[in-house]
Amino acid sequence: QIKNLEEQFEARIVRDDKIEPKDWMPEKYRQTHIRQISQHAHSEIVGMLPEGNWITRAPSLRRKVALLAKVQDEGGHGLYLYSAAETLGISRDEMFEQLHSGKAKYSSIFNYPALTWADMGAIGWLVDGAAIINQVALCGTSYGPYARAMVRICKEESFHQRQGYEIMLKLSEGTQEQKDMAQDALNRFWWPSLMMFGPKDDESPHTAQSMKWKLKRKTNDDLRQQFVDQTVPQAELIGLTIPDPDLKWNEDKKGYDFGPIDWDEFWQVVKGHGPCNKERMKARVNAWEEGAWVRDAAMAYAEKQQERKEK
Ligand code: ACO
Repeated sequence: QIKNLEEQFEARIVRDDKIEPKDWMPEKYRQTHIRQISQHAHSEIVGMLPEGNWITRAPSLRRKVALLAKVQDEGGHGLYLYSAAETLGISRDEMFEQLHSGKAKYSSIFNYPALTWADMGAIGWLVDGAAIINQVALCGTSYGPYARAMVRICKEESFHQRQGYEIMLKLSEGTQEQKDMAQDALNRFWWPSLMMFGPKDDESPHTAQSMKWKLKRKTNDDLRQQFVDQTVPQAELIGLTIPDPDLKWNEDKKGYDFGPIDWDEFWQVVKGHGPCNKERMKARVNAWEEGAWVRDAAMAYAEKQQERKEK
C-alpha cells in the first residue's frame, strides 16, 4: 500500500505537480520541509534584528521610512513561512521552542553585526540579493504553500535589494569617508553572503535528496555562482572592489572564479559561536517572554468573544 502511494507521489514530483497539505507524502518529505521552511521563517524573524537596530539612526526621513517598511516586510515573510510550515503539522509554539532552544538553525548571516549605516546598504544589496537568488529558485519548489509564499516574498525582496543598492550607490558617489564606509561594509559582508548558500554541494547532507524531491531547484554551489556572477558587475558599476584577490572572469565557464571560502568560520557561526549569536538569541527569547501578556490578553479576548457568541 505505502509502496504504491510512494510510487504515485514520486510520479507527481516528476510531473512537476504541486504537493498540497492534505496530499499523501512520505514522512521524510514532510520532515525535511518542516526543517527548511521553519529555518527559513526563523531567518526572516532573526533577520529583523540587525536592521531594526538602525531604524532610529537612519540618516533621513526617507531612509527611515524605507528601512522601517523593509523590516516590517521581513516580519511578514516570517509569518507566511510559519503558516506554510504549520500546514505540515507542526505548531508555531513548537517552532519557536526549537529556535529558542538552539535546535533549529537560522541563517548564519544574521550573526554578524551591523556597525555602520553603510551596512544597511550592504545587507540590502548583498544579503537580500543572495536571498532573492535562492528564493526565485524556490518559487518552483514542489510543496504548494512554500512555492506560493515565495512568489510574494520575492517581489518584496526585490524592493529590499534595490533600497540597499541605492544606499551603496549614494555612498559611493559621496565624500571619501562615505566611499570608505561603503567599501568597508562590502569587505565585511562579502564572504558571509557567499556562506548564506550553505556548504559546498559535496559537503551538503541534504542537497541530493532535496533536489530529487524538487524542494531545492538549484544546488548551493550553483546558486552561489549565480550570485557572484550577478553581483560583481554591480560592484564595478559603483566603483567598489570585491574583497577577493582570486576573483577572475573565466571565459570557458562564462562565470567568475572566486577564492576559497572560510568554512571553519561558517561552521563556527552555524554552531552558535559567531559574533552575535548569543545577542540575537537573547533578543528573541526576551521578545517571546516579554510578549507573553499580549498573547494571554489576545487569548482571553478570543475566549470572551466566543462565550458571547454562544450565549
Ligand atoms: N546558515 C545556517 N545554517 C545553514 C546555512 C546557513 N547559511 N546553510 C546551511 N545550513 C545548515 C542547514 O540548515 C543544515 O542544517 P540541519 O541539518 O541542522 O537543518 C546544514 O547546514 C547542512 O546544509 P545543507 O545540507 O546544505 O542544508 P539545506 O539543504 O537545508 O540547504 C539552504 C541550506 C540552502 C540554506 C536551504 O535550507 C534553503 O534554501 N533554505 C531556504 C532559504 C533560507 O532559509 N534563507 C534564509 C536566509 S534569507 C533571508 O532570510 C532574508
